[in-house]
Amino acid sequence: MSSNTVEHNRRRHDFSGVESIWLFGYGSLIYKVDFPYLEQKPASIQGWTRRFWQGSHDHRGTPEAPGRVVTLIEQPGATCKGMAYRVSPNVFEHLDVREKNGYLRFTTTLTFDDGSEAEGLVYIATEDNEAFLGRAPDAAIARQIATATGPSGANSEYLLRLADSLRALGAECTHTFSVEACLKADA
Ligand code: BEZ
Repeated sequence: MSSNTVEHNRRRHDFSGVESIWLFGYGSLIYKVDFPYLEQKPASIQGWTRRFWQGSHDHRGTPEAPGRVVTLIEQPGATCKGMAYRVSPNVFEHLDVREKNGYLRFTTTLTFDDGSEAEGLVYIATEDNEAFLGRAPDAAIARQIATATGPSGANSEYLLRLADSLRALGAECTHTFSVEACLKADA
């Protein structure tokens, strides 16, 4: 699949008659909230884990030297904690462009901290997209992040802001914190 997902996403969900919808954020959507929302609540999704396995050619790297950003990988039994936003469907006109480098919208069940649930959407870059980089040792991922930079800034800033946001949420993410530790050890 082409890494530009704007047109794919426009065809994926019919929002006619829908006033608002929950969106689950597990990466930059936790700390870069450049869209209006009606409500915001910490939430989790089950069966997915956060990994720095997606290449970033347009935000935190370049086509010649891509950075690494997070996507979700299926893992039975895993819980991924993040932030949920109840948004008007027109927010996706902006977010589909912002997250166009390989991310498709999927339907998922969100669990809020009080145990209640709601259906919502989540952006996932699956391994069949052209920008997918895949598994690498945490130290190698950190080395790539340390040197990459793109139109949205340094890839290291993305990692450090995400790690800080996850700690503020009380989220356990062994992978993110391990890559962060490798980055700091090499600094
Ligand atoms: C997120 O924070 O949920 C997100 C991460 C990457 C692309 C799109 C959304």
